[in-house]
Amino acid sequence: MIKKCLFPVAGYGTRFLPATKAMPKEMLPIVNKPLVQYGVEEAAQAGIDSFGFVTGRGKRAIADHFDISYELEHSIKGSGKEELLTSIRKLMTKSFAFTRQNEMKGLGHAILSGYNLIGDNPFAVVLADDLCLADEGQDSVLGQMVKLYNQFRATIIAIQEVPQDEVHKYGVIAGEPMKEGLYRVTDMVEKPKNEDAPSNLAIIGRYILTPDIFDILRETKPGKNGEIQLTDALLKQAQDGCVLAYKFKGKRFDCGSIDGFVDATNHVYENYYKKGLI
Ligand code: UTP
Repeated sequence: MIKKCLFPVAGYGTRFLPATKAMPKEMLPIVNKPLVQYGVEEAAQAGIDSFGFVTGRGKRAIADHFDISYELEHSIKGSGKEELLTSIRKLMTKSFAFTRQNEMKGLGHAILSGYNLIGDNPFAVVLADDLCLADEGQDSVLGQMVKLYNQFRATIIAIQEVPQDEVHKYGVIAGEPMKEGLYRVTDMVEKPKNEDAPSNLAIIGRYILTPDIFDILRETKPGKNGEIQLTDALLKQAQDGCVLAYKFKGKRFDCGSIDGFVDATNHVYENYYKKGLI
């Protein structure tokens, strides 16, 4: 059972400066909800009820968002605006915990910094700046991955086909097809040159990780950009055991970039907000 989800939110979000000078980028709103709330809701729909955040700075805004604001509740009581808090109130029964990544040494290091929140359990990871919206009638993207985990009991990474001239922005896999949309990973490269990429199957910000990843991360030397790369640890896990890559059913917006953020805003406004779904 996957009961815990880790949110690495320590990055500086430099592409959004100055908006992210005093605020984590995960608190930027897509229409009326911060990015991180979409991530938490997706995980909650996958049956997860314990959320851990690896923060560096701007911790307060995220912690405050998932806490009751008695002053605010009191001041809007009877104003008809209470229902605007319904979605966040629903999450309040869950457990939220926070830890710090004391040095910015990459995503692999951020996940290792979350060990004290996760322990020796399989767990999910959400990079909240990737907004994932499942196709209608489907489980949430993380929900689809949890189902696969329950079947295979192995690390599962979410992948998406991207245009060949964009592969340099991503971790990219090579894999043996197992069944429709599912691959056994044989190779993985972080941000390859377009011409060197083993495929156009790009890793996106959703993972189910088995707990042996922590031991592997402890042994992983800094790689590209001097950072401890999750991709390097996953490749080791794939070589020693088994890592599966899953082409999820849904849409994904790269909200860590301005273009992706604007696309997501327009999409959510037209398809969810105007229809009264959020
Ligand atoms: P990004 O590569 O998007 O970096 O990190 P960033 O700092 O957030 O954004 P830019 O590029 O400066 O605009 C991917 C994810 O990994 C987390 C980030 O918070 C983000 O969710 N991360 C990255 C950490 O938590 N710690 C790190 O040391 C690096």
